[in-house]
Amino acid sequence: MTVAAAVGRRWRGARLSAAALLALLALALLALTAGRGGGGSGAGQPGSPPPPPLPPGLREELRQRRRDLLRLEAAAGGGEAASGGLGCGDLSLATGVSVLGWGFTKVVARAALAGGGAVALKSVHGAGREVRQCVLRYGAPAGCRRLAAYKLLKEVTLLQRLRHPGIVQLHGQCYDNSGDPEIRVTAMLELGSPLEMIQLLQTPWEERFKICLSLVELLFYLAHSPLGSIVLLDFQPRQFVMVDGNLKVTDMDDASTEELSCKEDNDCTLDFPTKSFPLNCSAAGKCEGINEKKNLFNAYRYFFTYLLPHSAPSALRPFLSDILNATGDLRYGINETRKAFEKVLHLYKSGLYLQKRPLLLKDYISLKGFRMVEGEDYKCWPSYSHLGCLLSVHSAEEAATICNSQSQCQSFIITQQRTWTGRPLASFQSSLTDLIPDANAVIYVKRSASSGERL
Ligand SMILES: Nc1ncnc2c1ncn2[C@@H]1O[C@H](COP(=O)(O)OP(=O)(O)O)[C@@H](O)[C@H]1O
Ligand SMILES: [Mg+2]
Repeated sequence: MTVAAAVGRRWRGARLSAAALLALLALALLALTAGRGGGGSGAGQPGSPPPPPLPPGLREELRQRRRDLLRLEAAAGGGEAASGGLGCGDLSLATGVSVLGWGFTKVVARAALAGGGAVALKSVHGAGREVRQCVLRYGAPAGCRRLAAYKLLKEVTLLQRLRHPGIVQLHGQCYDNSGDPEIRVTAMLELGSPLEMIQLLQTPWEERFKICLSLVELLFYLAHSPLGSIVLLDFQPRQFVMVDGNLKVTDMDDASTEELSCKEDNDCTLDFPTKSFPLNCSAAGKCEGINEKKNLFNAYRYFFTYLLPHSAPSALRPFLSDILNATGDLRYGINETRKAFEKVLHLYKSGLYLQKRPLLLKDYISLKGFRMVEGEDYKCWPSYSHLGCLLSVHSAEEAATICNSQSQCQSFIITQQRTWTGRPLASFQSSLTDLIPDANAVIYVKRSASSGERL
């Protein structure tokens, strides 16, 4: 059964304790934001009078949203879609509900399932800007919440059809249409944590590159999706979350599969606050590649410019500036961008970017069978550990170059830990006081240090 079809039916089932909790949380948010005219109508509650008819303007908007939803489902082939398996029963048993965040349309909470796993619950934010603006216009809170619910249903429909590591996974859903005109929808999603751009700026380049690469893979998928080329109309860092160190888009209600129609090239200008791009109108009357280009420029302006260039390995900088220039003026499409990213990844993983450097490892003595006691030592940036200087390296040779460039560094070891690219982490030290035997380890000590007073 499709979502739109099911919305036409009535769901009878267990009491929705988690859903009720979410509704309460949304009300608490309403009190906090002190929105005017945002109160509930109580429609559908036992004993309350039948709701007044909806204003014609709102009825028309509702009709349009329902039509869009049906169109989307038809484009997606209709019928059964993967919905993840969780339903109202699981929601009724969920506990420990706490709000994670909210946007204009939805409020998101974390909850623990009976089986022990944790999920993110998304529902309509009754005090959010979308509902409040609608209420100001039409004075019909329940109808306005229904309008917002259609957006969440659209998101659910898209998440059912789109499967990609860069898209948050839908675990299930629960909807209740018994409170006509309201539809209560709760989507159960993979739990993530909101994207903290400031924090990301402080992470090692390799981690920031990973985020940009994941985004490129996502945009490549969206450009070639089973539903056609999909554009994210509200493309901002806050529409993404991190799940196990991976970037995933979570807000899909403003995604569109429509490409702008046109009669001539003049109809196809892609406008951003700082730049405009003239595009071509195809023979089929569509602005060519407009969805793909819009996503790519947004990725450039919100992600690449901040995350890609700074503290990148110097030999990779020309390649990264090429990517920035070519995406910033839309000379590259997503296919070329993906190729360029793959090239950088290859150069980085293979260590080819290190060629033509003086070899410095010869200035170090290797002590096999020892490692250093773990403890605090001097800090460096951007270290993988806050206790000391732990950096990703290609080889002991690169670690020697790094050690030579840091005045406090006297020795280093290559640890067993690996980053996502498979590179080892090297731990740099300023002293050689606490050595312990370890058959698998090697300590590299600066010759100047071993002959000095420190040993
Ligand atoms: N799966 C999730 N895990 C953790 N937090 C999430 C998840 N999905 C959304 N959020 C948080 O909730 C906020 C609102 O969700 P979003 O889908 O963007 O709603 P809106 O359509 O109202 O903008 C997001 O900005 C994000 O911080
Ligand atoms: Mg959002």
